[in-house]
Amino acid sequence: MKSEFVSFPLCAVTLLTLALSQHCAAIRWLAISQTAEHINKTQQCKTLPGLVSSQAQLCRTNLELMQIIVQAAREVKKTCQKTFADMRWNCSSIDAPKYLPDLERGTRESAFVYALSAAAISHTIARACTSGDLKLCTCGPIPGDALEPGHRWGGCADNLHYGLVMGSKFSDAPMKMKKKTGLHPNKLMHLHNSEVGRQALKDALVMKCKCHGVSGSCSIRTCWRGLQDLKEIAQDLKTKYLSATRVKHQPTGTRKQLVPKDIDVRPVRENELVYLQSSPDFCAKNDKMGSIGTQDRQCNKTSSGSDSCDLMCCGRGYNPYTEKVVERCHCKYHWCCYVTCKKCERTVERYVCK
Ligand SMILES: *[C@@H]1O[C@H](CO)[C@@H](O)[C@H](O)[C@H]1NC(C)=O
Ligand SMILES: *[C@@H]1O[C@H](CO)[C@@H](O)[C@H](O)[C@H]1NC(C)=O
Ligand SMILES: *[C@@H]1O[C@H](CO)[C@@H](O)[C@H](O)[C@H]1NC(C)=O
Repeated sequence: MKSEFVSFPLCAVTLLTLALSQHCAAIRWLAISQTAEHINKTQQCKTLPGLVSSQAQLCRTNLELMQIIVQAAREVKKTCQKTFADMRWNCSSIDAPKYLPDLERGTRESAFVYALSAAAISHTIARACTSGDLKLCTCGPIPGDALEPGHRWGGCADNLHYGLVMGSKFSDAPMKMKKKTGLHPNKLMHLHNSEVGRQALKDALVMKCKCHGVSGSCSIRTCWRGLQDLKEIAQDLKTKYLSATRVKHQPTGTRKQLVPKDIDVRPVRENELVYLQSSPDFCAKNDKMGSIGTQDRQCNKTSSGSDSCDLMCCGRGYNPYTEKVVERCHCKYHWCCYVTCKKCERTVERYVCK
């Protein structure tokens, strides 16, 4: 456990002095998820929380984009928490601006959040181009490749290219700030993981088709390149989180770069998430380590996965409680054409960790 404190004081000190150094705060732009007002004046840019100067500059020159970025920040929070609802670490630390150290240190959890954030911002922008919410961009290009008979290109493709360009400009800005000392290892880590997130987004561009023809005969299909939903990209990234590689900062020639720590010498792969610091087990509350613990978390007695009471409660045991759930029941079909149902109450047994 001791070794886990090694590089922590760096961020802790900066947090305490409130002079947040940029490599610790590169994810702080997520705090704009809390912005309630509509952003339509450049004067608002300097009042937005969590932005570094180059992000505030982008805000002034791309005001229209900001509302989309606010939306992206909300998506990141929601999707992260849903994706990790069955895990001990449940992404509650993302609640900006109270980032716990698990997002400030270079942990596996921060690797996931950076990757998801990079994917989400580009995803949201690409979709906004398609929906017409952004005037600056439009549908993605129609691919040149030929389609099977009965299929033709049409519809409006998600503008992944524009999403990637503008998204990375904004979310990578804190890591790209000039520092005399060169790139801090955490910045290298964040940049790498952001790129992994964007790669997962590129992999999520799939062909979607819609049927046409007499009464759904589907004699003609129009097809376009559309992005899968963010929750599917998040699942892909969760798999990468579970198999993430621990790296160290090593000089190679004149440059320093990240290389896998424990295994044979090989470069870091483009599609793997990397982290510098090991994580606690998140069983017990430990503010310094950024763990809120699993006490009072709901667990599943019949599951054998990470949400099972054994794993979730770390062997401490659990308490049962009953909950009333209201369901639709005794539904009747009425001619023509509606259904009426009654409400039935049922008690279910649930369990929370001691
Ligand atoms: C900006 O947004 C606010 C709040 O939605 C609105 O009242 C105001 O008219 C808008 N201003 C401009 C210049 O569009
Ligand atoms: C995550 O876990 C904490 C601590 O057990 C709990 O208070 C919180 O409600 C959970 N958050 C979500 C989004 O489930
Ligand atoms: C508990 O886990 C089982 C098996 O995975 C699943 O079928 C069930 O829906 C889960 N129950 C709850 C309340 O999530």
